[in-house]
Amino acid sequence: MHEGLASEIARYEERTPRSKQAHTRALQRIPLGVASNYRAYDPYPLFVKEAKGGHLWDLDGNEYIDFALSFGALMAGHSHPAVVRAVESRLRGGTAYGMPHEMEWELADEICERYPVDMVRFGSSGTEATMHAVRLARAATGRDRIIKFEGAYHGLHDAALVSVKPHLEEVGSIEEPTPISGGAGIPAAHIANTIIATFNDLRSVERRFEKHPGQIAAVICEPIMMNVGMCLPLDGFLSKLRELTRKHGALLIFDEVKTGAKLAWGGACEYFNVKPDIVCLAKSIGGGLPLSAFGATRAVMDQISQHKVFHGGTYNTNPISMAAGLATFREVLTREAYQRVGQWNNKLLGAYQRIVERSGLKATVVGAGANGVLLFRDAPLRNYRDWLEVDPELWRHYWFAMVNRGVLPQPYWWDEQWTICVQHTEADIDRHIAIFEEVAPALAQAQKERHPVATAR
Ligand SMILES: Cc1ncc(COP(=O)(O)O)c(C=O)c1O
Repeated sequence: MHEGLASEIARYEERTPRSKQAHTRALQRIPLGVASNYRAYDPYPLFVKEAKGGHLWDLDGNEYIDFALSFGALMAGHSHPAVVRAVESRLRGGTAYGMPHEMEWELADEICERYPVDMVRFGSSGTEATMHAVRLARAATGRDRIIKFEGAYHGLHDAALVSVKPHLEEVGSIEEPTPISGGAGIPAAHIANTIIATFNDLRSVERRFEKHPGQIAAVICEPIMMNVGMCLPLDGFLSKLRELTRKHGALLIFDEVKTGAKLAWGGACEYFNVKPDIVCLAKSIGGGLPLSAFGATRAVMDQISQHKVFHGGTYNTNPISMAAGLATFREVLTREAYQRVGQWNNKLLGAYQRIVERSGLKATVVGAGANGVLLFRDAPLRNYRDWLEVDPELWRHYWFAMVNRGVLPQPYWWDEQWTICVQHTEADIDRHIAIFEEVAPALAQAQKERHPVATAR
C-alpha cells in the first residue's frame, strides 16, 4: 500500500472507531458484517447513524455530503419531504394488502407516459425486474439464451450473474468472451445460456447471433454501463443494437435500473432516442423505498395476461412503496429537477476536469444526467476490459481522502459513480469541488510514484 493511502486509512480509523466496533460485532452474526456484499470493504465500512437531504452522519457523528446516495437509489435525496408526506399519509391505512388498489394503475400510467412501454408490472428490487424481463423474453421468443455484455451487472439471479467481474486471465478473446460464473452456486446450464459479448462492439454481438442462430431470446443491456464507473455507448451503438436484435428476432431489454430515473425524465430511451422491447426500472423511482417495475409492449406483456408467464410477489405494490413512487415521479423527478441537477453535474464535471488537468493527474472524468465519475485511466472506457486498467489503490486513496474531509464522493468501489440529488445545494457542489482540489495534488504525486513511466509527461 502506498504511503498516501496508508495515512488516509489511518486517519479514517481515528475518525470512525464506532463503525469499527459495530462492524466487529456484526461479523459474529452476519457474513462479512454487512447485508449486501457490496457494502463490505477494508478496513471496515462506515456505519450510518442517520441521513437527511443530501447529507449523512456516521456513528461517530461525522457529517458527510452524500454523493453515494444508496448506490444511486436516491436522486430524491434522503427523506425527501414529498416522499415522507406521501408515506406518512399511507402508513395508517395498511402497509401491505396483497390485493389490488388504485395507486397501481396511477403509477403504471406515469411510467407509460415517460418510457416507451404499454403495460407495467411491479416488484421491489432491480433483480426482480431484470429476472422477469429475461423470462418474458424467453417466453415471447421460445428461445433460452440471452446475450449479456461482459462486465455488466443486472442483479443477482442466475442468468445475470455471469461475467460480472471476471479476471483478465479467464476472459478469453474480446471477440468471443468466455462466460464466467459470478460466484459459486450458479448451475452450469445457466452459464451456458448466458452468451457474453463486448460492449460497444457490434461485431462481437453479431458473431454471437451467428454462432447461436435462432437461439437468442434477448440482448440485455444497460444503456450506459454503470457498474464499471461509467462506460458510455459509442455514437449509434444502441440504435444499431436495436436493428441487430430485430434482424435476429430477439428482444432488446434495457436495464434502466440506474439510468431510468437519473439520466433524463424519460430515462435512456429518451436520452438516446432508442426504443427497446422491455424496460427495467428500480432504484431512484422509489424515492428511497423498495420499488421496481418492468414494462414492455402490450404484445410482450400479453405473455402474462394470457397466463403463459407467471409473475407474482407478496410485497408487489405495497401501498407504502407505491405512494413513495407516485410522489417521486410527480413531485420530485420533474423536468425542472433534471435541468437543475444536470447543471450542477456539469459544474462538478467541469471542475473535476480542470483540477485533473492542473494537478497533472492521468485520469478521465465522465458523466451524464445526475451521474459522474473520476476514472484513474487516461482515456474513456469503451468496454469492461478497459476498466480493468483502472488503478484501484489510487482510487482508494481518492475515496478515503474525500471521506476524511467530509465528502462521500460516491459509493465505495471503483466501479461506481457519484449521484447528485435534488436536495443537494450549490454549496454542497462547491464544497465537493474544494475538497477534490485539496486532495488532487497528493493523488497526482502518488500516481507518479506508483507508475513513474506511464505518468511521465
Ligand atoms: C444496472 C443494474 N441492474 C440491476 C441491479 C439490481 O438491483 P437491486 O440491487 O435493486 O436488486 C442493479 C443494482 O445495482 C443495477 O445497477
